[in-house]
Amino acid sequence: MRTKMVAGNWKMNKTLQEGVALATELKEKVANPRCEVVIATPFIHLATVAELLKDSPIRVAAENCADHESGAYTGEVSAAMVASTGATYCIIGHSERRQYYAENYDILRTKTDLCLKNNLRPIFCIGEVKEEREANRQNEVVKAQLEGSVFHLSEADFRRVVLAYEPVWAIGTGLTATPEQAQEMHAFIRSLVEAKYGKAVADDTTILYGGSCNAKNAAELFANPDVDGGLIGGASLKAEDFTTIINAR
Ligand code: PGA
Repeated sequence: MRTKMVAGNWKMNKTLQEGVALATELKEKVANPRCEVVIATPFIHLATVAELLKDSPIRVAAENCADHESGAYTGEVSAAMVASTGATYCIIGHSERRQYYAENYDILRTKTDLCLKNNLRPIFCIGEVKEEREANRQNEVVKAQLEGSVFHLSEADFRRVVLAYEPVWAIGTGLTATPEQAQEMHAFIRSLVEAKYGKAVADDTTILYGGSCNAKNAAELFANPDVDGGLIGGASLKAEDFTTIINAR
């Protein structure tokens, strides 16, 4: 059985003190989850939050990592540094990174490789923009994203990757994909994994949905057979909402 998961993505929100307060609240509320729970925090929070959550079932993720191993890259944070904080996951390829920081398939392939090399599990994001959905090109877009950055992996490495389908038109907009749209795309993604790695790997691949997933619509989205959980932005910033979403999984 594949892992069910609810992951929060704090993005560029919360000072260190606010982040510690939120993680402390979550630690109390999320003592016995039925699924894997992950929170992705800004880099500067990682060591403190990972230490705070070390006896909790909640895992910690970075939201990004550098596309180089080490050296003269001022301002960057390497996968090895992320892992040294106690974080065990790293979001790669979020649409905001692709869009605002011009992260292309090659950069994201390198970041994925560096995560795996440093024992971090990538939460790899894919998804189409509004114009692509309107032109009915969503399938070819996610296929190209997978082929460009993760389908070069060995089977053993691919098994460590969590996929997150996040239609860009649904992120932070309040426009959620319908449960039917999510299921259709997740089934398509799983079929691509099957064609590449075989049925056993496809059956074991965790595929999250992200994009305006909240305390109200989570249960309906998670009820679909190919939707294994969610990657939650805005609603992960409030302990109560995030806990409701976790309990819906
Ligand atoms: P949202 O963000 O839940 O605020 O739409 C999701 C994400 O970007 O991961």
